[in-house]
Amino acid sequence: MLYYSHRGSVRALAEQIVRGIHQVPGVAARVRTVPKVSALCEAVEADIPADGPPYVEACDLEACVGLALGSPTRFGNMAAPMKYFLDGLASEWVNGTLAGKPACVFSSSASQHGGQESTLLSMMLPLLHHGMVLVGLPYTEAALNRTRSGGTPYGVTHVAGTDGIALLSEEEIVLAQAQGRRLATVARKLAVAQ
Ligand SMILES: Cc1cc2nc3c(=O)[nH]c(=O)nc-3n(C[C@H](O)[C@H](O)[C@H](O)COP(=O)(O)O)c2cc1C
Repeated sequence: MLYYSHRGSVRALAEQIVRGIHQVPGVAARVRTVPKVSALCEAVEADIPADGPPYVEACDLEACVGLALGSPTRFGNMAAPMKYFLDGLASEWVNGTLAGKPACVFSSSASQHGGQESTLLSMMLPLLHHGMVLVGLPYTEAALNRTRSGGTPYGVTHVAGTDGIALLSEEEIVLAQAQGRRLATVARKLAVAQ
């Protein structure tokens, strides 16, 4: 589980996806985040974040059997800290560190039609370059048809509103857990097959 969250909405989704992952026997989530970046100069962050999960390290990507990648929607795209982190993965790309492993993506935005789906699709592109196997959310999850808030077949989402409320709707919780279970189930099967 790797996510960036500034105000807590993506973090709320991440926590539910982790619950779903832990519903699959034998699979444990390792939760990591990325530091902020500054437009003025390279930000210097403490080695350990003041709150939330630790910063991701190369060994986390090597050790994982699957990856749930989360970012807020920023102008219809992923947030710069996540993109900055992904842009630094040249050696993982060359070495095929993530190749053949399953991945899913998730996001949160202020408005319902404010670019969640374009954000999710943009997050999939670098993962495909790494050879990851993308896992979506099927419509067999009834909450996907029911939801009046977040949730897309490309990955779970949260609609935070202009106040950035991190409280998830019932459907968002159901779909986040379903996404975690699905990723963990596929990861376990692929890991056994290799
Ligand atoms: C610079 C910036 C750009 C944003 N762009 C969008 C956007 O394109 N569409 C949208 O609906 N919300 C947008 N938002 C709102 C965030 O996506 C929303 O608050 C999200 O829930 C934040 O997630 P977090 O609480 O995990 O940080 C933007 C916020 C910021 C700060």
